[in-house]
Amino acid sequence: MNLILLGPPGAGKGTQAVKIVEKYAVPHISTGDIFRKNIKEGTELGKKAQEYMNKGQLVPDDLVIEIATSRLLEEDCKAGFLLDGFPRTVYQAEKLDEFLSANGKKIDCVLDIAVDKDELKERLIGRRVCKSCGAGYHVKNMPPAKEGICDVCGGELYQRADDTEETVVNRISVYEAETMPLVDYYEKAGNIAHIDGAKDLDTVFAGIVSALGE
Ligand code: AP5
Ligand code: MG
Ligand code: ZN
Repeated sequence: MNLILLGPPGAGKGTQAVKIVEKYAVPHISTGDIFRKNIKEGTELGKKAQEYMNKGQLVPDDLVIEIATSRLLEEDCKAGFLLDGFPRTVYQAEKLDEFLSANGKKIDCVLDIAVDKDELKERLIGRRVCKSCGAGYHVKNMPPAKEGICDVCGGELYQRADDTEETVVNRISVYEAETMPLVDYYEKAGNIAHIDGAKDLDTVFAGIVSALGE
């Protein structure tokens, strides 16, 4: 199954990806995670991406397309994949379609997760992430058993550099201007499913399962 998770910052893409991977056994490909890993390791790519990410802007298309398509050529993507946060512009979507058709593939379903703006802000500002294993938490909605400590691995929780109020507002407007047109793009392609992301975690996942089938 070849899937795309679409939705604004804070919609719950990363959170639902964990559950989708578990049930459908596809690799999770988050361009944001790839960039953050590169920033942590201090690579050239990380240095370039960081400038844009910290301001809440999009990393230039050509750079992202190169990263995503080379990841999709890896062995584990042969039987399917879950893209999270890519594509994010119509240009990226067109390039992805060209790449897939050249490789005899297509997207089976685009999961479009919708959540209103006020809730997005609250989710992002309260988000905490494990430094060691990447598990996601929320100070109110999904708090760890012990404050600041990961339930899964005991690692330290941190706040993403782009989860400040100012950057969050910017990311949401960038989403509306650059990424929202993708809803129409995939509507025309006829393979989009709309998921209400404002519900609790399990209800949102149930919506995804009903769109994809058991
Ligand atoms: P990226 O890492 O993709 O960030 P994003 O799209 O802004 O999305 P988030 O990861 O912030 O949100 P999410 O939907 O995954 O929410 P989560 O599940 O964590 O990209 C970061 C940056 O990289 C971009 O700004 C850009 O600069 C660059 N980039 C990446 N891809 C790019 C591309 N293709 N082109 C150009 N640039 C690119 O949940 C959020 C919080 O809510 C958590 O605390 C969670 O616990 C909580 N939560 C989740 N679900 C629920 C629920 N149902 N109820 C209550 N709380 C919930
Ligand atoms: Mg995410
Ligand atoms: Zn952890």
